Amino acid sequence: MTRVAIIGAGPCGLSMLRAFEHAENKGEKIPEVVCFEKQEDWGGLWNYSWRTGSDQYGDPIPNSMYRYLWSNGPKECLEFADYSFDEHFGNPIPSFPPREVLYNYIIGRVSKGNLKKKIKFNTRVINTINNNGKFEVTYQDKANDKILKEEFDYVVVSTGHFSVPFIPEYEGMKSFPGRIMHSHDFRDAEEFRDKNVIVLGSSYSAEDIALQCNKYGAKSVTIGYRHNPMGFKWPDGMREVFYLDKLEGKKAIFKDGTKQDADVIILCTGYLHHFPFLEENLKLKTGNRLYPPKLYKGVVWQDNHKLLYLGMQDQFHTFNMFDCQAWYARDVIMNKIKLPNADKINDDINKWVSMEEKLENPDQMIDFQTEYTKELHEMSDYPKIDFELIRKNFKEWEHHKVENILTYRNKSFSSPVTGSVAPTHHTPWEKAMDDTLKTFLNK
Ligand SMILES: Cc1cc2nc3c(=O)[nH]c(=O)nc-3n(C[C@H](O)[C@H](O)[C@H](O)COP(=O)(O)OP(=O)(O)OC[C@H]3O[C@@H](n4cnc5c(N)ncnc54)[C@H](O)[C@@H]3O)c2cc1C
Ligand SMILES: NC(=O)c1ccc[n+]([C@@H]2O[C@H](COP(=O)([O-])OP(=O)(O)OC[C@H]3O[C@@H](n4cnc5c(N)ncnc54)[C@H](OP(=O)(O)O)[C@@H]3O)[C@@H](O)[C@H]2O)c1
Repeated sequence: MTRVAIIGAGPCGLSMLRAFEHAENKGEKIPEVVCFEKQEDWGGLWNYSWRTGSDQYGDPIPNSMYRYLWSNGPKECLEFADYSFDEHFGNPIPSFPPREVLYNYIIGRVSKGNLKKKIKFNTRVINTINNNGKFEVTYQDKANDKILKEEFDYVVVSTGHFSVPFIPEYEGMKSFPGRIMHSHDFRDAEEFRDKNVIVLGSSYSAEDIALQCNKYGAKSVTIGYRHNPMGFKWPDGMREVFYLDKLEGKKAIFKDGTKQDADVIILCTGYLHHFPFLEENLKLKTGNRLYPPKLYKGVVWQDNHKLLYLGMQDQFHTFNMFDCQAWYARDVIMNKIKLPNADKINDDINKWVSMEEKLENPDQMIDFQTEYTKELHEMSDYPKIDFELIRKNFKEWEHHKVENILTYRNKSFSSPVTGSVAPTHHTPWEKAMDDTLKTFLNK
């Protein structure tokens, strides 16, 4: 019997399990599937951990989420086609839920069947090699400190790429008397109340962590961008300046001449695609981009079609794109989709990569990833979902952010699955200090 290893039980790994379950429920004979998850529970980044550094077994903590993290895009853009928010919560809920609410939704979909039984928890894959057409997967049972090996026909890598921080060094860091940390280790903005905070970076982590610090009472927040400023209308106490030059004692000195006393430097400088558990010739090598090279349809490893990667793209679309990828991967594995010859694969990858390299603004990027996801969607039996509405929702969301970065999370969108319109949340985001599921769902 064909054996499939799935590495990681975050949203992508769970999409893969769900895709197989969907086929099985339709009476199809599915391969034997084993999912390896190094944490003690499922949900990936959404499974919040207070820990930073390493866990009780000495294994690095993959988690990068923090308290008070709310969805940064409308939930209507990430909704599962086969499991709507209305179905899970029983009635429409607001468009920007906090982490615990989204976690509850992700887990709700997979908790119904027997999928959990297919996952080996506390199990870290440490090596994967390809030998005569088979994959030998070596893994550590962390709790019993045992190293074991199994053979598989296919490997699906769904280990995420926002867990291993990229940490640059700036002059003066060695003698800086305050705290220097990466966003990966950020857990709670309360810690920075009354502090002067420097945030480096100009993407989603920089934006959200800077806003969190401001919301929870930081004395000042100075964001240092490197290439392009985010350019939002920042609230009082926040500003965005050009590129950190160096630190001199407690002072942060920026290249535009700005000087700011600093208690903490938070590096929101992104993450590495890091696959220490794959042999060299199986490793995807890429930065955070919308179309990493060497992946046919963004999924199939060009040099070995029995190795598949999910969710390796930079992400506007998330959960339903992961689903479309997983449904496609399933059909490749089950031989329902035949791959073209090597030249056609190469041409297709090059076509997408060269389109991606010409993208200039968020609207074009949204269009690009929507077209990519739509193409995948049409190739499998992933249920109906309105990607045109999702495209529209994303573009409106981008414009709401430009209008007011403090209030974009108070807007409502309509569902691409059920059509229902989200109610307005009882408390505007800028005043909502409690992010628990109980408070959020309280009408
Ligand atoms: C701070 C932050 C906030 C975010 N907020 C949003 C948001 O609001 N909305 C949104 O749609 N997306 C958000 N994202 C994007 C996020 O990437 C996706 O939502 C989603 O978590 C990606 O799923 P994944 O399965 O690819 O990866 P992950 O969620 O990272 O899951 C990967 C899993 O693989 C496991 N794993 C890793 N290595 C091994 C190994 N060697 N052996 C076994 N298991 C392993 C990990 O333990 C983990 O459980 C956010 C990301 C970050 C970093
Ligand atoms: N739900 C939420 O509110 C929330 C919050 C945080 C993050 N997220 C998610 O988390 C994921 C990761 O986002 P991310 O912002 O961590 O990573 P990212 O999108 O990959 O951005 C990395 C940033 O680091 C900057 N950078 C890299 N090296 C630098 C250097 N040496 N000096 C200064 N800046 C440097 C880059 O700037 P250049 O452009 O100059 O290269 C870029 O702005 C995204 O999917 C995002 O949606 C969501």
